Amino acid sequence: MTQDKFMSKTAIYPGTFDPITNGHIDIIKRGIRIFDNIIVLVAYNPDKAALFTVEERMEMIQDALREIKGVTVDCHAGLLVDYLKTSGANIILRGMRALSDFEYEFQMALMNRRQTREIETVFLMSGFKWFYTSSRIIKEVVSLGGSVKALVPDNVHQKLLEKYNVTARNNNNHKR
Ligand code: COA
Repeated sequence: MTQDKFMSKTAIYPGTFDPITNGHIDIIKRGIRIFDNIIVLVAYNPDKAALFTVEERMEMIQDALREIKGVTVDCHAGLLVDYLKTSGANIILRGMRALSDFEYEFQMALMNRRQTREIETVFLMSGFKWFYTSSRIIKEVVSLGGSVKALVPDNVHQKLLEKYNVTARNNNNHKR
């Protein structure tokens, strides 16, 4: 038996998370059954505009995952592989939704591995319910007054309403 078997396994789950959705949470909840620890990493590019600040995104993730043991939240600007090197982790966790994700994910996984051979990307198939959701489409629907209540955690839903200045009552009038 190699010593590796006794070491705890940490996976890094990177993303923009602008904002985190129930689809991401589903991947984290399932991932923590496989890994001992998961670091949810808000990967940001200071030159790229986002709806939520990095701090807001981290806070929303922390709030939404409060109950789940073994999950922590961090942020990083720059190459993902550099974060992995400093954290000592060598596993990247990613969710795969529809077939359309495959090429992009494959490209990223190969590029990360080209830079550091030790890195492995592990994919979990997204839950069927979340196959066609994305942060962009969720933001668009809220900004136009539609309801996304079933697609994001409650705290995120509230923050989205605040950002777009929509009252919860108006928003709840829409069918889920
Ligand atoms: N359920 C629902 N939606 C999901 C999802 C799931 N399980 N997984 C991803 N999504 C959605 C997100 O909401 C997001 O939607 P949007 O594009 O409408 O905003 C989209 O899918 C992509 O999201 P995400 O998982 O956050 O990936 P990303 O493309 O934003 O993240 C990074 C990519 C951050 C991991 C990548 O760019 C990176 O590593 N950056 C660091 C710099 C670097 O190293 N670059 C070289 C990489 S080879």
